[in-house]
Amino acid sequence: MKHKNSLKVAITGANGFVGKNVGKALAKKGISVVGIIRKGKGSSIIFGDVVTSEDLSEDYLTSKLYGCSALLHFIGKGKQTVDSDYQKVNVGITKNVIKLCKKAKIKKIIYISGLGVSKDTTFGYFISKFQAEQEIINSGLDYTIFRASYIIGKDDSLSNFLFKQMKKGKMMVPGSGRYRLQPIFVGDVAEVVFQSITQKKFSNKIIDLVGPKMVTFNDYIRDFLQGKKIPIKNINLENAYHAALNNPKTDFGIDDLNILIGDYVGNHKKLKSMSRIEFKTYKDVLETCCLS
Ligand SMILES: NC(=O)c1ccc[n+]([C@@H]2O[C@H](COP(=O)([O-])OP(=O)(O)OC[C@H]3O[C@@H](n4cnc5c(N)ncnc54)[C@H](OP(=O)(O)O)[C@@H]3O)[C@@H](O)[C@H]2O)c1
Repeated sequence: MKHKNSLKVAITGANGFVGKNVGKALAKKGISVVGIIRKGKGSSIIFGDVVTSEDLSEDYLTSKLYGCSALLHFIGKGKQTVDSDYQKVNVGITKNVIKLCKKAKIKKIIYISGLGVSKDTTFGYFISKFQAEQEIINSGLDYTIFRASYIIGKDDSLSNFLFKQMKKGKMMVPGSGRYRLQPIFVGDVAEVVFQSITQKKFSNKIIDLVGPKMVTFNDYIRDFLQGKKIPIKNINLENAYHAALNNPKTDFGIDDLNILIGDYVGNHKKLKSMSRIEFKTYKDVLETCCLS
């Protein structure tokens, strides 16, 4: 393995929540980071070099990425539209990324899939994630695939959504709220990604990226409120799905609902024993890491 100070890595989706946080953390460790972002989107990247690309198929990318030990593929979509569907983004861009790795002689790819994804998956978002996983597994590249629960930290999408509800003065819980999640801190995700770049034991594995505590959505919202007296309202699932199906701007999209209600939890013990990190609990994050 190369010494970390001679390491160079590329990140797709470098403008996204995970991309920005992981990029910053790796740069702090002395790794050279090339962030790949979309043209015309503007960059808030404060680490390394920035390269633009529309769909990762452009030839000019190859020379920019020579010398990278790994490509961290963090482009993904959890809501689809007619113009930008899961096949195009989650599967199509992953195929382009694999070709790019081969052209630029990058041997390792790290990908974030979804917790609960499996060959028996029945809904579109997870099917596209499974297909992207298969493309990577069959590519011949060294890979680490993480199946992630909710990744939390400053500006994560779940917290942003809950803050929005707090502002409106009512927390909406679809259905019973008894389904569980297993949030993981983005700083810990960055450390795990770093290890998977530098340690052989992460090679060719699919690993659940989950925090130390499982929590029901009801309890998570209660803890998120940190004692603030904001009413929590359980909304009827039929109404929640009706809104998701008929209003593309609704807070809970169809697949947001599917992921929540799917009650997906994973194997934290394996992640802990592989990485030996002292993971933050979601309560540590809510209490000390100032999400807002
Ligand atoms: N955050 C979580 O809790 C979580 C949980 C499970 C899995 N994941 C997976 O982890 C990865 C990163 O998630 P994230 O939270 O960082 O998501 P994010 O903040 O939404 O970032 C996604 C990135 O993908 C890029 N992207 C989306 N559609 C694209 C397209 N058509 N062409 C090129 N780039 C496109 C976005 O580019 P722009 O910045 O230009 O919009 C953005 O940089 C995703 O694959 C996601 O599915 C995340």
